[in-house]
Amino acid sequence: MDNRLHADFLDFLAQTSPDPIGLEIERAEGSWLIARDGKRYLDFISGIGVANCGHANPKVLAAIRRQSERYLHVMVYGEYVLDAQVELARRLIRLLPAGLEQVYFTSSGAEAIEGSLKTARKHTGRSAFVAFDGAYHGDTMGALALAGNPGFRAPFQPLPGPVHHLPYGEIAALEAIDDTVAAVVIEPVQAEGGVHVPTAEFMHALRERCSAAGALLIFDEVLTGFGRTGKLFALEHFGVVPDIVVMAKALGGGLPLGGFCASRSLLAVLAHDPPLGHITTFGGHPLSCAAGLAALEVMVEENLAERAARIGNNIIGHLKNLRAPAITAVRGVGLLIGIELKCADLTRRLAARCIEAGVIVNWTLNCDRVVRLAPPLTISDTEVDFALRAITDSLGQVART
Ligand SMILES: Cc1ncc(COP(=O)(O)O)c(C=O)c1O
Repeated sequence: MDNRLHADFLDFLAQTSPDPIGLEIERAEGSWLIARDGKRYLDFISGIGVANCGHANPKVLAAIRRQSERYLHVMVYGEYVLDAQVELARRLIRLLPAGLEQVYFTSSGAEAIEGSLKTARKHTGRSAFVAFDGAYHGDTMGALALAGNPGFRAPFQPLPGPVHHLPYGEIAALEAIDDTVAAVVIEPVQAEGGVHVPTAEFMHALRERCSAAGALLIFDEVLTGFGRTGKLFALEHFGVVPDIVVMAKALGGGLPLGGFCASRSLLAVLAHDPPLGHITTFGGHPLSCAAGLAALEVMVEENLAERAARIGNNIIGHLKNLRAPAITAVRGVGLLIGIELKCADLTRRLAARCIEAGVIVNWTLNCDRVVRLAPPLTISDTEVDFALRAITDSLGQVART
């Protein structure tokens, strides 16, 4: 380890926790991160759901190179016609269900959530939102107000609201959605809450209740989008079409990019009364859009969603067969998998042990008993075997100590 660099990392960069992982990264390729000391780490979390096509995918890098030689930022979002933006928007819309007709590009997932909340308030003239226990939608004020973990909301009150939190997956609770609610925001598979897959019955009941109450239904596909759950978008599992789909993370192929998609009539509210009432400088950055389009082509051409479904099933089957006493549940869909352990201490020690063994895993933010697995969708069978061996060995070690 370069001591100076590490010390300056702690000195000059604002920290997000007392104990960052602190790996010194030299480069990344495919499923691997290579540290400055030469040690290789299998990235079994894809930089938290971003590197769906693997790190430094050559087609994505070539697109970035081509775009960077033409222009970078030239104007705030929405004024000039930028072919990278238009092409990505067209491709995305054609891959989404009918009714989702336009995209508003942002720079991040939280910014896209904010835009979708503002659209819902302006369209409905209502102020309240509904979100779910365990939810995570980002850390800006509006997105944080939706967070399903009171401990993260508490230091920042008062947050925009009112926001009513309901238990995730419980049909009876949906009765609380009434005609004061502008929108219901939900992750179609809840990730940071500990990896929970709702039933199709729940998702249909939610759609029906929102339509009956005149509340918009917003799917946060920031983490679940782009093949992660074994479908290009998780909404395909349920046959439910929301009013707004929010995306980010893998959307930019490794560069910062977010967006929210809806019907033309819904998104039109952002363009008038007043015009320019919701704008962004870097939203839909041409470099990010060029990278995102190349990444999307890779996902579609290489059928990465189907691949995620197959590999995910194998991993879940393997973990369930372990019958390890420390594991209380294995949940997931595609390559978004949670291993629930007996206590948070085991989770932390397992994640640390796996990293020592060269496999990066972490726990979910709102449920510290769950270790999350979310490798690149391009991961090879040999790499999966390597990871499963390391996880199994590490489990044995932490359970014994
Ligand atoms: C489901 C979900 N929504 C929103 C966000 C926020 O995205 P960003 O970190 O790009 O603001 C995240 C980030 O982890 C997320 O997992």
